[in-house]
Amino acid sequence: MAFQVTLQPSGHSFEGFEDETLLASALEAGLHLPYGCRNGACGACKGKVLEGDFDHGPAQDHALTAEERAAGLALMCCAKPRSDLVVECREAAAEGDIPVKTLPARVQKLAKLAPDVMLMQLKLPANERLQFLAGQYVEFLLKDGKRRAFSIANAPQDDEFIELHVRLVPGGQFTGHVFGAMKERDIVRIEGPHGSFHLQELSQKPIILLAGGTGFAPIKAIVEHTIHNKIARPMTLYWGSRDRTGLYLPELPQRWAAAHPHIRYVPVLSEPAAADAWTGRTGLAHQAVLEDHADLSAFQVYACGAPAMIEAAKRDFCARGLPAEEFFADVFSFAPQ
Ligand SMILES: Cc1cc2nc3c(=O)[nH]c(=O)nc-3n(C[C@H](O)[C@H](O)[C@H](O)COP(=O)(O)OP(=O)(O)OC[C@H]3O[C@@H](n4cnc5c(N)ncnc54)[C@H](O)[C@@H]3O)c2cc1C
Ligand code: FES
Repeated sequence: MAFQVTLQPSGHSFEGFEDETLLASALEAGLHLPYGCRNGACGACKGKVLEGDFDHGPAQDHALTAEERAAGLALMCCAKPRSDLVVECREAAAEGDIPVKTLPARVQKLAKLAPDVMLMQLKLPANERLQFLAGQYVEFLLKDGKRRAFSIANAPQDDEFIELHVRLVPGGQFTGHVFGAMKERDIVRIEGPHGSFHLQELSQKPIILLAGGTGFAPIKAIVEHTIHNKIARPMTLYWGSRDRTGLYLPELPQRWAAAHPHIRYVPVLSEPAAADAWTGRTGLAHQAVLEDHADLSAFQVYACGAPAMIEAAKRDFCARGLPAEEFFADVFSFAPQ
């Protein structure tokens, strides 16, 4: 049975179900409630039920004391509604509201998507989840104190694993390890989430997504997040690479475009090999955006990839009328040597 759950002070509401926790329903609805363990143990998801009946579920006594229960407090990761509810609970509206964690993680899967692109899936310890906004990144903490940044490629509602797309940098210390000695079941240390690159959900503007190579990773997270949350703003994805192997998940954006009329996909190759038999767009991906749009003043742009691409895109898109504050980018710069 479905119940209406209203959050205070935001006034946001979502559908709750008697067999689903309030946290799960809220996340499903695209609302960012704070949480940590998702297991009734840490207390990070505490809220106050102002009106209505609910079941506390397996909330642990040290995370929710008897006094807190008596005062109407509940753990959102455990509580299930028994009627319509009004709940006072803070929402993580921006990246600064989400706690940054340092966690061990197990390499669950390593699979080559291209000769120089590795899909890596990380699994967090049983009682841990990493809360993040679609588009944010994590850092690997290496034994020698160095850090390496990689964007999360899955959307927040699929938080069982953290998916990363790692491009091999010739001579690279960390990516060389990923393509060499690293094995499934290895333990790594990560810190995150970091970054302010995420969808601005209050805007209704049409969106241009620009991805260079593995810059596709956070763009994938954003697109999957919009599909899951039924955000149907017109969206055109330009994915650029040198040759066909660089578009390493070729069917995925085609499937998005086929299933969702508001999504368009434009793959662009800068140096297609003869063997690619490429009949699609050629040149630089950001140039393809310029060829298709004489006026960018009404758009919002999300761009991700190498520094030169981001720099050129920002300069040229703003010259076509894009307001500078509507250009959001994650620059795949690299750690200082
Ligand atoms: C916020 C953020 C998110 C990122 N997300 C991703 C991602 O999702 N997928 C991904 O593949 N990469 C991503 N990157 C880039 C990634 O962090 C680097 O490629 C990585 O740190 C390289 O580490 P390494 O130890 O292998 O190379 P290093 O040992 O640090 O470098 C070896 C040599 O290669 C040069 N170099 C290092 N990185 C690059 C690079 N990216 N391009 C060109 N030359 C380089 C160095 O200057 C050095 O000369 C991201 C970067 C940032 C800042
Ligand atoms: S998320 Fe830890 S107690 Fe709910």
